[in-house]
Amino acid sequence: MSDLRTEIEKRRTFAIISHPDAGKTTLTEKFLLYGGAINLAGSVKGKATARHAVSDWMDIEKQRGISVTSSVLQFPYKGFCINILDTPGHQDFSEDTYRTLMAADSAVMVIDASKGVEAQTRKLFKVCVMRHIPIFTFINKMDRDARDTFDLLDDIETELGIATCPINWPIGSGKNFKGVYDRRGRHVVTYSGTEKGTKEGTETIYEIDDPKLTSFIGQDAQEKLEEEIELLDGASAAFDQEKVSKGELSPVFFGSALTNFGVEIFLNYFLEMTMPPLAREADCGTLDPVKEPFSAFVFKIQANMNKMHRDRIAFMRICSGKFEADKEVYHVQGKRTLRLSQPQQMMASSRHVVSEAYAGDIIGVFDPGIFSIGDTVCMPGHKFAYEGIPTFAPEHFARVRPMDTMKRKQFVKGMTQIAQEGAIQIFEEPNGSLEETIVGVVGMLQFDVLKYRLENEYNVEIRMEDLPYEYIRWIENPEEVPPEKITGTSDMKRIVDLKGRPLLLFVNSWSVGMVEERNPKLRLAEFAR
Ligand code: G4P
Repeated sequence: MSDLRTEIEKRRTFAIISHPDAGKTTLTEKFLLYGGAINLAGSVKGKATARHAVSDWMDIEKQRGISVTSSVLQFPYKGFCINILDTPGHQDFSEDTYRTLMAADSAVMVIDASKGVEAQTRKLFKVCVMRHIPIFTFINKMDRDARDTFDLLDDIETELGIATCPINWPIGSGKNFKGVYDRRGRHVVTYSGTEKGTKEGTETIYEIDDPKLTSFIGQDAQEKLEEEIELLDGASAAFDQEKVSKGELSPVFFGSALTNFGVEIFLNYFLEMTMPPLAREADCGTLDPVKEPFSAFVFKIQANMNKMHRDRIAFMRICSGKFEADKEVYHVQGKRTLRLSQPQQMMASSRHVVSEAYAGDIIGVFDPGIFSIGDTVCMPGHKFAYEGIPTFAPEHFARVRPMDTMKRKQFVKGMTQIAQEGAIQIFEEPNGSLEETIVGVVGMLQFDVLKYRLENEYNVEIRMEDLPYEYIRWIENPEEVPPEKITGTSDMKRIVDLKGRPLLLFVNSWSVGMVEERNPKLRLAEFAR
């Protein structure tokens, strides 16, 4: 096997998604601990990015350097090279989660055993299902009183519309959590308590009919376990690797990240069941990660990670081949050859410059303002573009202007840069003034982030006026039906996006239908193409 193939096949690139507080940070820390990347849990920074309170989110954003280092982590484990992508835990940032999932080959969904699928995160999880990548479920906090196990599975199936297959099964919960039954190995792994923050828990493996198991877990728990196993074997979906790979069946694991129950078992099974980087679709067909030369796409842009330097980093997922820092690459959308500047990778809590990286890896490169989300970078001799990343239709709109008109320049710069990052979408009225911009967002929290960032990074205070619109439609055939010729409704508004494309805003869906009826030749689209 070539070195390139060996390197690529040992890559496992996945995103972790969870409702805030379900235990994503703790689980990530434990993974790192097993990989030997950190010595003591508690060193993964930036967990507050996943918190629900705006103030917490803002606080960590003040230290963006830290929160961002934790957003992509690479570490070795048992011959694998693991890349973990962090995602924001709040539904208001589900678009960001979707983009991150575009860069991942699978997702780990962390669920709090006492809560099940939480209302606020439904949208986030659905976004995950939309990507059709393998989804692994880790039901966490079994050391606390948990909901009934069958109910939890039912919840995932009905709420998220994905079948589940428990790979292991918990014995008790809370104080009575004794371990898990491994359905494949048909044995029980029991645990003795581990100290918080260490990885050495004593695990003992018992055959299911071992009398020592009965004395450890108790007669009642043993009987209940046997009953549940029988029920499970008869009723639950059988493990099917093909369905897992297509994202139609989620393998489920139980454990407690805090006390390390079940984390290593999960990690080992997960690495076996998830996949190395796979072929991806581009405009020239399906591209093999090993056979093709270097190519990557931009899935995230983050400005001002270091306030002192006013830098902007474009994060790229390498999709094929080997990246070599000294070679020239071709930026497809910019139509030019360039060298990627200061390529970096994140290793636990530090960033370092890399000279090479492989398909499956994520690199962050210095961006002088040339990259946009979804852009492709490839070798000059072999040009093609990966499928773009769709933009979600905004659901909330506001009119934004600087308090101080003297700050117009910074205002425009800040708004444009934040929009290029994909953190907001901006629009203008056809003959509107530069001092006023219409902002569209998917989640309301994005407005708070915009306000905070303009003040802190661009020194511009803004006034924001909510607009009543909730529906947005791009005009697909403006040559045929010019926007000014459209017979509208009283609540309709004509605007243009950053690229000058005309679109319409509506207060309710009734008006959308009405305008379509009144203008039979008009073609409206929910997404920009
Ligand atoms: P998040 O990234 O998904 O937001 O969750 P995070 O790991 O920060 O965990 C949220 C809280 O839940 C933390 O408590 C953490 O210690 C606790 N936790 C995580 N996993 C488990 C588990 O398996 N069992 C139990 N009992 N608790 C767990 P905290 O009090 O908010 O923070 P800390 O003071 O412990 O750091």
